[in-house]
Amino acid sequence: MKTIISRSRTILQFSLLSLAITVVTAVAAGLMLNHQAREAMIRSHVSVYPLVVEKILDLHPMLREQLAAKDAERLRWDAMVLKQELQTLGPVVSVRLWGGDGTLLWSDREPMDGGKSGRQLDAARQGAVAYAMEQPLTETLAGNVNPGTILDISIPVTREGRIAGVVELSERDEELAAGIGMQIRRTWWTITGFGGIIFLSLFVVAARANSSLNQAVNKVEQTQQVTIMALAYQAELRDAETGRHIERTSHYVRIMAEGIRKSGRYPGYLRGTYIDDIARSAPLHDIGKVAIPDSILRKPGKLTNEEFDVIKQHCVYGVKVLDEAHEKLPFQTFLELARQLILHHHERWDGAGYPAGLKGEAIPLSGRIMAIADVYDALRTKRPYKEPLSHERCVEIIRLESGKQFDPEVVRVFLSVEPKFKTISDEMNDEPALA
Ligand SMILES: [Fe+2]
Ligand SMILES: [Fe+2]
Repeated sequence: MKTIISRSRTILQFSLLSLAITVVTAVAAGLMLNHQAREAMIRSHVSVYPLVVEKILDLHPMLREQLAAKDAERLRWDAMVLKQELQTLGPVVSVRLWGGDGTLLWSDREPMDGGKSGRQLDAARQGAVAYAMEQPLTETLAGNVNPGTILDISIPVTREGRIAGVVELSERDEELAAGIGMQIRRTWWTITGFGGIIFLSLFVVAARANSSLNQAVNKVEQTQQVTIMALAYQAELRDAETGRHIERTSHYVRIMAEGIRKSGRYPGYLRGTYIDDIARSAPLHDIGKVAIPDSILRKPGKLTNEEFDVIKQHCVYGVKVLDEAHEKLPFQTFLELARQLILHHHERWDGAGYPAGLKGEAIPLSGRIMAIADVYDALRTKRPYKEPLSHERCVEIIRLESGKQFDPEVVRVFLSVEPKFKTISDEMNDEPALA
């Protein structure tokens, strides 16, 4: 169960990570593409003006002369004509004329305002057409085409191969701004579409990989379960008990562990994979019987004290088998749990059990749970030396042993789940059990 949960968490983490990467990449690509698109649109728009200005200056050659001579007085009339002609071609709102040395010769703003001209003017004085959009990109990015969007363009004017002056015009081109806004929105929609497709593709690939991984892990878990059962049968079949004993006790142990989790007692024990681990460990509880000689294990009569001491060793032998595996597979938490369960399933709450004679809560919970499951099944089923007892009689015996052989808390849980024990014992019995 834990592996399935952790794998679901992994796919969730993968999905969130791919979503984050997709969003960051899409935003970065969007910003870059929009910047380039905006620049290209403005550049193409601006490229018309130098030709237009040149044409007007050709029609009004005096203007070029006056600019070169920095004759601000005589320039005034022709400058107005220039502005009017420019306004017939585009939404020009303001014009300023500069001398080749950077002196402001004429401005349609009152009082005559030099404004910010610095770098753009310098560039024009070097012969380059320079421009700047005065509103930040974000204005159009948000789709709000600001009516105040101003495009400021500085165009160098030459006379006899030298820079005679600079024509600076400002336009409030809402059409251009709207075009840029539309282009930006189109880019974002396209990127969102592609980003969504990329994310969904990644998600589908991850989900498919996860599903194949789940199938593979389930197969490994089933193989592990079968291996454990095969190992456990080896020991059980030598004993007088039957193979179904280990299957039933595994169910009883799970029912008990789930009951304890519900009861809220021993919260420290019942975290994570404990329930799965204890149910998986239960079949191994008597694996140490493989080391007990047949003469003792299969002895039909009563055992001597010495023989019983040998039988008691099955707990220790079982742990030795597990220790071998545990060293090689330290990550298998269930092996550690199985080790405790094997070693301590014959301990008694009052300390009179074996092999360590542990008392009370010093006995690992797995041992206390297994003890009840094991004894219930032994009482309930037919053995060569005894007849099966009824479910009610088994429950009664366990209840009477509360605080003696068994942990009173675990007995309390047993009494709350005992109907489920009856169902299992009836459904998985070896012989027809007593009703
Ligand atoms: Fe045992
Ligand atoms: Fe057993």
